[in-house]
Amino acid sequence: MRIFASLSLAALALVSIAAVTAPAQQSATSQVALTPPMGWNSWNYFAEKVTDKNIRDSADQIVATGMKDAGYVYVNIDDTWEGKRDASGLLHTNEKFPDMKALADYVHSKGLKIGIYSGPGNKTCGGFAASLGHEEQDAKMYADWGIDYLKYDLCSFIPDVMEKQAPHDKVAQMKLMIAAYVKMGKALKATGRPIVFSLCQYGWDASWEWAPALGGNLWRTTGDISPDWDRIYTLLEQQDGLAKYAGPGHWNDPDMLEVGNGKLTVAENRAHFSMWAMLAAPLLAGNDLPDMKPEIKAILTNPDVIAIDQDTLGKQGTRAYSDGEVEVWTRHLSGGAMAVAVLAAGDSRYSTHPFHLDLAKLGLHGPQEGTDLWTGKAITLTEHMPIEIGSHDILLVRIGAPK
Ligand code: GLA
Repeated sequence: MRIFASLSLAALALVSIAAVTAPAQQSATSQVALTPPMGWNSWNYFAEKVTDKNIRDSADQIVATGMKDAGYVYVNIDDTWEGKRDASGLLHTNEKFPDMKALADYVHSKGLKIGIYSGPGNKTCGGFAASLGHEEQDAKMYADWGIDYLKYDLCSFIPDVMEKQAPHDKVAQMKLMIAAYVKMGKALKATGRPIVFSLCQYGWDASWEWAPALGGNLWRTTGDISPDWDRIYTLLEQQDGLAKYAGPGHWNDPDMLEVGNGKLTVAENRAHFSMWAMLAAPLLAGNDLPDMKPEIKAILTNPDVIAIDQDTLGKQGTRAYSDGEVEVWTRHLSGGAMAVAVLAAGDSRYSTHPFHLDLAKLGLHGPQEGTDLWTGKAITLTEHMPIEIGSHDILLVRIGAPK
């Protein structure tokens, strides 16, 4: 994305081409991602430096830390594994990944699944070989390797095809973009292997409206995340209104987790993780697993918060109301339960003091007994109860069948 940031996202987002939406397909991927995919991806920590060893070490750690038991399954290699194509068009790996089949076998031997990365253009965002003109060949190769997940990143398709074939015509450019994703969706389906199809095109042209029909299991709704509270909060704000597009097999993706990265505080990590669970977002950790601090492990493996994310009803949470810098979100869960998140989004702790909960605005009446998912203690939410939350922190409560 970084290389192509000059293209105006806002201008493109205005273009509506619902008419070209691909016909609904029953893809081979329809049985995958029935809950938001959980796993780990190499990009947010290792970026272009990732190696075969990093992937093996991360797979080992997913098992050793209990993350696998907590539900993390996919070990995803992001950009920079790609080498050159040979005369037959077959893409080879580069020297950092000497044997992809052996790596896939290793990850599978741990009871995990493996993901890979490409894009519809000539080049990936990192400038490595991508799939333009080789879609079927690449999809078949992924299936032969035993790949379980593909992240498909728009990047050089913008200058290579969209701008070249349809200069100054945003509507035609969006049609080309969608056609490229339809093409790879079909190629994956043709392999017969269940492969999660992750669309990475930054939410252009309201991807949530057309991605499910072409077999997309998740689609980015925003530009890239970074390990910084303001950026995380910006992405969160962009999810409001998208809840109705998510459901079993097809999810909004506000980008991968930054939990444990950069200078995020423990509170910020907790709030980020909680809100991604409220959003039914894919939970793809992106931290350095061999060097994970206990407090980060505790956040990433909190079973009660993961249960919110993975709730089988698959209903994404929505913002019920905001009051100054405090936001209250709710998410309906199976069995009539509900999650309530009170987020102190702003920089000043005193902006939340005093904050009084308005239960009626959540459609709730009378005291609501529940559990504080970060302390594990019982809590009763009452009308106008004062709640004090530190800056960039969160209160996350699960209540039973609400009254
Ligand atoms: C884009 C994507 C990122 C990552 C990089 C890799 O920026 O949005 O998630 O995959 O490309 O180059």
